Amino acid sequence: MIKFDSVHKRFPNGTTAVHDLNLDMPEGQITVLVGSSGCGKTTTLRMINRMVDPSSGTIRLADKDILEADAAELRRGIGYVIQQSGLFPHRTILDNVATVPLLLGWGRKKSRARAAELLETVGLTADTGKRYPHQLSGGQQQRVGVARALAADPPVLLMDEPFGAVDPVVRTQLQDELLRLQKDLNKTIVFVTHDIDEAVRLGDRIAVFRTGGHLVQCAEPAELLARPADDFVADFLGAERGLKLLSLSTLAGIPQTSAPVVRADERITAAKRTGRWQLVTSADNRPLGWLDADAAPAAGTAGDAPLLPVRALRDTDSLLSALNESVSSPAGLVARVDADGALTGVTSRDAIHDRAGEAHTSAGAGEAPAQTGATQTGTTKTDATKTGTTA
Ligand SMILES: Nc1ncnc2c1ncn2[C@@H]1O[C@H](COP(=O)(O)OP(=O)(O)OP(=O)(O)O)[C@@H](O)[C@H]1O
Ligand SMILES: [Mg+2]
Repeated sequence: MIKFDSVHKRFPNGTTAVHDLNLDMPEGQITVLVGSSGCGKTTTLRMINRMVDPSSGTIRLADKDILEADAAELRRGIGYVIQQSGLFPHRTILDNVATVPLLLGWGRKKSRARAAELLETVGLTADTGKRYPHQLSGGQQQRVGVARALAADPPVLLMDEPFGAVDPVVRTQLQDELLRLQKDLNKTIVFVTHDIDEAVRLGDRIAVFRTGGHLVQCAEPAELLARPADDFVADFLGAERGLKLLSLSTLAGIPQTSAPVVRADERITAAKRTGRWQLVTSADNRPLGWLDADAAPAAGTAGDAPLLPVRALRDTDSLLSALNESVSSPAGLVARVDADGALTGVTSRDAIHDRAGEAHTSAGAGEAPAQTGATQTGTTKTDATKTGTTA
């Protein structure tokens, strides 16, 4: 969809912001640009909507050289979201979102109707539309920023650290929302961030830049984490890149065995005969907690005894959360539930460890490092890895 071909940007003061950039941003995918401050991410983004023009090289959007397009017309097909939302302070939220449709001549009524619909899409109430930007939280303002960028339904969305200024909890919510929207909208998104976790979570592909505007590696998240092209990329990914890789695989396909179960209304004496750690379940087969049968009082039901917490996982949960649960579960067993939350079985710590090792091997860990430069191959990222973790 967007293709950079030998693009160079040198500002009049002599700073080279982007150096010989060759990069493809595929249609309907999220390409994330990461790298330390000043490495040319914003400049790269702004060259796409011609807020900055390259010094040399070509950029094509849907096979057309963007330098031959009319800049105003080009921008109508490109939504732009920035960190401080960039809302007009003296216009209501509704009018902020309606800005582009109005400019496109949709008329006031139709533009406002579209704006109201978009506020709902990004999770804001209709009442929010009547307020002014300063009357909203930072997270709400960012949602409005996204709604405004989507107003004219542009095929391309440029997002420059859109969630950089909000707290981690709101940030995760906004990321979830973006992934949810993207499932329906299928935009070509170019997303800039400093946060490698955000990049791994959102990106179909991640492009890592180094100071001086050099692209060091562009790959799918699993490939990048398993095979960083050089020490710079490895350092940037951080010491826990092995664990981050596990966040990309799911529990699906990992075998289960039948759980040591005792129903909450059963006598504790029954549990004591079976073994030490028992998973107590409700009448409708939901895991309630782990019972230490050895320590439990001799009388009463299993449900009356003190239980240790269980966090049951679904097939769509990540291998990383499974590893976490296998470490914190007193029995060393991970309880597995179906989509409705009913217990289906357990998986042992060893089985999860084995699969974690396989995840590394299959993503290419331990093989010879990829060549330095913009490597563009990778393994396939499944849909399930983008649903986050819930149980
Ligand atoms: N208009 C300009 N004139 C001169 N130099 C510029 C201009 N805009 C950016 N630069 C320089 O170009 C380089 C790349 O800037 P850019 O804003 O693209 O970096 P960035 O990767 O987005 O950084 P950050 O993560 O801090 O936002 C920096 O050295 C910056 O100082
Ligand atoms: Mg920037």
